[in-house]
Amino acid sequence: MSLRKPWLFLPSKLAHDLSPYGLELYSLLKGSDTTPVWNPFSFKNLIFKNRLGIAGGVDKNADHLEAWRRVGCGFIEVGTVTPQPQSPNPGVIMNRDVQAQAVWNKMGFPSEGAKEVYYNIKKFKSHASTPVFVNIGKNRVTENADAHKDYSELISHFSDIADTFVVNISSPNTKGLRDLASRENFTAFIAPIRKHYDDLKLTQPLFLKLSPDLDQEGQENVLKGSMDHGFDGFILTNTTLDRTHTPHFPTEGGVSGKPLKEKSIQALNSAKNIILKQNEKKCLISVGGVMTADDVFERISLGADLVQVYSTLVFEGPGFFRKVSKLATLRQQDSAK
Ligand SMILES: Cc1cc2nc3c(=O)[nH]c(=O)nc-3n(C[C@H](O)[C@H](O)[C@H](O)COP(=O)(O)O)c2cc1C
Repeated sequence: MSLRKPWLFLPSKLAHDLSPYGLELYSLLKGSDTTPVWNPFSFKNLIFKNRLGIAGGVDKNADHLEAWRRVGCGFIEVGTVTPQPQSPNPGVIMNRDVQAQAVWNKMGFPSEGAKEVYYNIKKFKSHASTPVFVNIGKNRVTENADAHKDYSELISHFSDIADTFVVNISSPNTKGLRDLASRENFTAFIAPIRKHYDDLKLTQPLFLKLSPDLDQEGQENVLKGSMDHGFDGFILTNTTLDRTHTPHFPTEGGVSGKPLKEKSIQALNSAKNIILKQNEKKCLISVGGVMTADDVFERISLGADLVQVYSTLVFEGPGFFRKVSKLATLRQQDSAK
């Protein structure tokens, strides 16, 4: 642990609760009004000045959009947002292992609810062009049979300000959520959401966030099913239930960070192949175990259009975005030689 990262000396939850203050301060002192431009990318009507953004869960309620823009994010995912406000799961909800560069959480979609989050995004959008993805999920009291209604309600609610919707059915921390991705349930869940989306005549992309714990057949089923329903891209992956590298964490909850790296890369590779076989062009967003600036470029070289981070921010802090843009500049200079 280094004195340059004093938050690593604090208990995990306290460091997490104080991090918004650190972010705001850092963005004022070291941030910039201009988003660094490297490997710019466009998809549908969206323009990304660079390919690195924050993952779902980092800014659940869109409270710090301006700070994330100032530290150098090329895009920002907010949420998971639920229709109604809800509190976190009871008990200990997060921990970290600095040695293993791993984070464990079982937060369970704590959310201020759609109304509050809408207001925060609206304020940001009045002056900023950074793409904002809205990651949506169901309230924990909503039965799976009615889950599509929560998602449709959220799509209506954010229809005029979300640049993209991310349908999240891959969190391990809402009981039964992942069952929505099963062969038996997926079509019944996704079809009414797509119909609702078409009824509203929306044009922004629809993305699906996947679990790293799906087997090959499960992943193929979900990818093909969502492509049949006109999904435009995939976020791979959410946290894992696998404890092979982190047996000391509780069995419930999701693990992220370095131990997730291999699974996330595997998911990216197999999604790429499945999409190619279908002869489709989709947006692929890689997340999971991206811990260093080199990791960002590795994911891009493996076929990711965009890359997201969460756990590395826990260990490295928000300076990570500048670090990556510096490396991008060096790489550009090298390739121009
Ligand atoms: C504390 C914590 C909370 C998270 N909350 C959410 C969430 O609300 N919605 C979501 O889709 N993913 C959530 N995630 C998963 C991340 O978006 C990401 O998929 C995962 O952490 C893997 O990336 P990483 O290895 O860079 O952390 C959360 C992750 C952590 C560590």
